[in-house]
Order: sequence, then structure tokens, then C-alpha cells
Amino acid sequence: MSAVANALRLRYGAEAQPEGMVWNETLELLLKHRSVRAYRDEPLPERALETMIAAAQSPASSSNLQAWSVVAVADQARKERLAELAGAQGFIRRAPLFLVWVADLSRLARMATQRGLPHEGLDYTELLVVGIIDATLAAQNAVIAAESLGLGTVYVGAIRNRPLAVAAELQLPPQAVAVFGLCVGWPDPEKPTAVKPRLPQGAVLHRETYDSASEADYVAQYNSAMSAFYAEQQMRVEGDWTDHSSKRIAGPQSLAGRDTLREALEQLGFGMR
Ligand SMILES: Cc1cc2nc3c(=O)[nH]c(=O)nc-3n(C[C@H](O)[C@H](O)[C@H](O)COP(=O)(O)O)c2cc1C
Repeated sequence: MSAVANALRLRYGAEAQPEGMVWNETLELLLKHRSVRAYRDEPLPERALETMIAAAQSPASSSNLQAWSVVAVADQARKERLAELAGAQGFIRRAPLFLVWVADLSRLARMATQRGLPHEGLDYTELLVVGIIDATLAAQNAVIAAESLGLGTVYVGAIRNRPLAVAAELQLPPQAVAVFGLCVGWPDPEKPTAVKPRLPQGAVLHRETYDSASEADYVAQYNSAMSAFYAEQQMRVEGDWTDHSSKRIAGPQSLAGRDTLREALEQLGFGMR
């Protein structure tokens, strides 16, 4: 099987593979992404952090505001405290590096304040969204950079379970919030992880206008692909993808404490107007 056919089979499952894909090394790296939650007990290569951050600073940024920051945590005790705040996920403790990506309006506030310039625009939800988008684009570039070095990563959305405690731990200034964490480490070859299939392209790609007419078919196809994936990986998962995705959105109790995020953001100094 050619490299492209194999990559597409892993990304989409046995069926639903798009045809005629262009192929190069960058695409190969992108398509073989998988989250890594088990790490070798080995430090990162020298300057890996700085390399990842240069990549993180390279994507587009809304109006070039660069409304994000990242806190690199390598101290074991701090990692353990953050792991507790983020759903007690053990792999955070074991990753040599835990990056906390921050939507950061505080730098813009300080800059404007120093010059005595107004900055009430920061009180609007739009600017928080800008910060979240900027932080996300930065983080994903860092992920690609890490993967290009042979490192593995996993995002940690659970860092939003306790936003105030996380802000206190990291001494974040007002108008800065942790959007997600990212564990970085050498993948443990004893516990390899597989590429997880994604929805058929037709479910997410709409041409000219939005069209969900065939969505149920695509989702059914994906439920089968994911069930086959779980069986292959010997993962015991109750129900299919539709079932557990629905569980995740059932109600405030499914949000692991994040149902109070809006109030927390207000307390962190975001105007939310
Ligand atoms: C913003 C974000 C937050 C995530 N948070 C967690 C998390 O807290 N714990 C975890 O184990 N995985 C987390 N993940 C990883 C996803 O579960 C994973 O990306 C998804 O299942 C697809 O698998 P893959 O990355 O291996 O393709 C997160 C992913 C993203 C993008």
C-alpha cells in the first residue's frame, strides 16, 4: 500500500477515503497525528521548548495582537498540583513538560495603560475570543513542531475545570485565562497509540452552502469505523461515538465543573460584554 493510501486508511477507516490527495512530507506528518499519553522517562531534547515556541509564534494572529502566552511547567510539584486541578489525569505528572496555553489580554492592557490609552475594547467577549483563537493556533503549531521532532503530545482541556485555582497556581494576571494544557514527552514505545479515525469528509466539508442532507449516513459510517477502531485497540467503550459524544453534552453535569466557566472568566477580569 502506498504511504498516502495507508495514511488515509488510518485517518478515515477502511472506507470513506478521499481520492486524489496531494502528498508530501508535511501532509504525512499532519495526517499521522495521534495523542500520546504515555511517555518515556527521558528529558526532552535540548532547546525543544524554544523550538516549539518559535513555531507557536509563527501562525497568523488576529490583527497581529498576539493575544496569548504560554506557561512552561517542568517543576514536578507544580505539575502534580496542576494534574490534580485537571481531573487528576496521571499522564500530566509523568510528562517532562506541561505547557499551559493562555488567552492573554493582560499584555495589551498593560501596554495601553503605560501610554494612558483607552482599552475598554478588552471588556468585550470578542477580544476574549481573539485571545482563545490566537492561543489555539499557537499551540497547534507547537504540536506540529513537537511531532516533527518525534515527540508526542496531548491537549488537556480539563485545565478549565478549575480556572481560578489554575490562575492562582500560575500567578496569572487579570485578563488572562488558561485555555488548555499540553503534555509533551517522548512517546513510550511500550504503549504505542494509534491514529484515530475522523468523520468522512462529507460530514464536515460543505460546498458553497451548508448541507446536512447526507449527514446521518456519514455519521453511521463513522460510528462503524470508530467501533472497529475500539475493537482493534481492545478498548472497552460503552456505546458508539454518537452515544458518548451525546453523553458529553447531556447537561451541565457533563461539563466536569466547566458549567461555571462564564462566572470564572468574569472573576478573572474578563468583561464578557
Ligand atoms: C482542546 C482539547 C482538549 C483536550 N483535553 C483532553 C484531556 O483533558 N484529556 C485527554 O485525555 N485528552 C484530551 N484531549 C485529546 C482528545 O481526546 C483527542 O485529541 C481526541 O480523542 C482525538 O484523538 P487523537 O488526538 O489521538 O487524534 C483534548 C483535545 C483537545 C483538542
